[in-house]
Amino acid sequence: MSELEEYRHQIREIDQRVLTLIKDRLNIGIKLSEIKHSLGLPIIDTDAEQAAMDNLVRTSAALGVDISFARQLGELLIEKTIEIQNNHRSAGQPAKKSKDQNLKEIIELTQAMLVDGKKIARFEIGEPNFPPPQPVIRELTTVFKKKKIIGYGAAVGLPELRKKLAVELSNEHHVRIDPDQIVITPGARFAIFATVMSFVSELERVVIPQPAFPAYEECVSLTHGRAIPVAASLDNNWELNFSKIEAELRKGARMIVLNSPNNPTGKVISKDKFHDLVELARKHDTLVLSDEVYERYVHSKAPSILDEEYTNSIYVNSFSKRFGLTGWRIAYLVTSKEYAKRIRRIIHTAVTCVPEFIQRAALIALKQGESDAERNRRSILRKVDLTCRELSKIDVEFYKPDGAFYVFPRSNKPNFDSVKFATKLLKEQHVSVVPGESFGNYPAFFRLAVSLPEAQIPNAIRSIGKAVEHWS
Ligand SMILES: Cc1ncc(COP(=O)(O)O)c(C=O)c1O
Repeated sequence: MSELEEYRHQIREIDQRVLTLIKDRLNIGIKLSEIKHSLGLPIIDTDAEQAAMDNLVRTSAALGVDISFARQLGELLIEKTIEIQNNHRSAGQPAKKSKDQNLKEIIELTQAMLVDGKKIARFEIGEPNFPPPQPVIRELTTVFKKKKIIGYGAAVGLPELRKKLAVELSNEHHVRIDPDQIVITPGARFAIFATVMSFVSELERVVIPQPAFPAYEECVSLTHGRAIPVAASLDNNWELNFSKIEAELRKGARMIVLNSPNNPTGKVISKDKFHDLVELARKHDTLVLSDEVYERYVHSKAPSILDEEYTNSIYVNSFSKRFGLTGWRIAYLVTSKEYAKRIRRIIHTAVTCVPEFIQRAALIALKQGESDAERNRRSILRKVDLTCRELSKIDVEFYKPDGAFYVFPRSNKPNFDSVKFATKLLKEQHVSVVPGESFGNYPAFFRLAVSLPEAQIPNAIRSIGKAVEHWS
């Protein structure tokens, strides 16, 4: 064997040893996941990850190996270990379902029971149960009558709609917003997806305060970024865990997602805390994605990223909740002109544009739909109050929401399992709720969306009370 061949042979042998060691490391990860599961601990432990990473960096410095290479390797190993732990959960158990999957299954079971002719009190569906404003319907009818061809439009959206939004937002937030900073998207969900796609690369970290709307984590996992959940607790009134968030931003997270008013807790971040959070992001140059789709569903105005004049941010809002246009798929985001161009590429590539007649309908909603929206908003906030009054009569604990249209109660029954509870409640009491596990590690919680008719609320909550009482 020549010297050249000899060295190549040695490299192949070393590669085999490296892979064998990686396999040992992943097997230890599986054992860890079983222990975490039995202790009810979340899979992700950022302190343990940091300790592992520090160890790698120290070792690479001692050995004279490139530190950034050691970091990349560390990120890959941590990522793979988490994936394996998530899939394994514990020996003999099925793979853990995604958070969106839990929600989908409850909705599908509800729909199947409805088709079977069952009457269901639907607390599971996160949409207002009112029709679009009347002028919107009239406008659509005219568009169809007058216009034979509806062609492709600009990816960023209809100029008139962006202009109208720019005026409204500039007035509301006392800042100057240019129409070129606005991108119209097919729903806020797509705005979130397009943002994550545009800015988060493989292995980059996205801080997601939990409990949270499951789409954030799904989007991050689709782009192979790393979702870093930072849990809040009911016992602390769902206040954000500031020190943990700060630690993650300091470590160089790419983005933080804020959602106030929050789905599922209804928590609104206070003005001071919101400001402090943005200052923290400013200090660490972290991109802020601020999902404000429930901003109208509040008793007093919620703080907004637009008030902060922080250019490294994306504000997301939607026509879905404000005007009852959930199925129409129309929303918008506000960001810097430069970021808007980046996001535009995703819209153009994936969907070309939001259909023009939907955008015209949204424009009419803005111009003439506010009184309908305001009436509906008041009705929903009344229903939230009623829901809270009824919930206080049964054996659950909850935070009285500051906004949005959700309540997120907790049962203190031992071994409460929100996924099993939601399925049992639906099958036996014909009341549909979403398990807390859809929003993070919250197996003792379930979410009520108060979109059902007011008259159904007291009875439905009595049924929930019965189901909680008989839980064992
Ligand atoms: C916090 C949050 N953001 C975004 C969305 C999605 O809104 P859209 O209908 O505009 O996609 C929802 C829907 O439930 C939500 O709860």
